[in-house]
Amino acid sequence: MTTAPPERVAELEIETLDAKHADALVEHFERCTDYFETVLGHPPGPAERQSTFIALPEGKTYDDKFTFVFIFESKVVGDLDLIRDYPESGEWWLGVLLLDPSIRSMGLGSDILEAFSNWVAENGGRAIRLAVASKNPEGLRFWQHRGFVEIERKENVPLGVWRDDLIIMRRPTDEEP
Ligand SMILES: CC(C)(COP(=O)(O)OP(=O)(O)OC[C@H]1O[C@@H](n2cnc3c(N)ncnc32)[C@H](O)[C@@H]1OP(=O)(O)O)[C@@H](O)C(=O)NCCC(=O)NCCS
Repeated sequence: MTTAPPERVAELEIETLDAKHADALVEHFERCTDYFETVLGHPPGPAERQSTFIALPEGKTYDDKFTFVFIFESKVVGDLDLIRDYPESGEWWLGVLLLDPSIRSMGLGSDILEAFSNWVAENGGRAIRLAVASKNPEGLRFWQHRGFVEIERKENVPLGVWRDDLIIMRRPTDEEP
């Protein structure tokens, strides 16, 4: 059990990902082709949609996976994925935070991060961890500016059509950005 997740951030409504969002999620990914091309070297396809619904790190169950979509004017304009107690108890893994290009750089990503960081803390998470591909310097800068610190670098990891370094970052949930 968890406390109720945030229901709204600014103008965006937040819903838990459900089968009813499948088509809208695909349309969202297509609008975010820039991100998939940057990180994976190919446009989004069925594998990306499927993994949003079903991907789980080894040893975790669906009780630990929390995937949210952000809705504006009936469209999915963002998604966020969190795994509780991964890779270790008390740390939550942020798998993805992806916003529609038309709503980036307006402060929404920061507001979403802080709302969910508080929710993670409420539910026993002491820190959030994530991985950024070195081919995504804008993503890296976003997390650095929000107080995330590199704790590890995984070199030459297979990612889409190529290999890339993954920068593992962490921020305690009680730390103000
Ligand atoms: C990364 C991402 C989630 C960040 O969300 P965002 O809403 O664009 O980020 P914000 O607007 O909160 O912050 C971005 C910058 O805009 C600035 N900003 C904040 N409010 C602003 C406003 N009202 N007007 C203009 N700029 C603003 C912030 O200061 C920030 O700059 P800084 O990092 O130099 O401090 C989003 O850009 C995205 O989905 N990118 C593609 C996917 C991606 O790379 N995800 C991360 C993978 S690890």
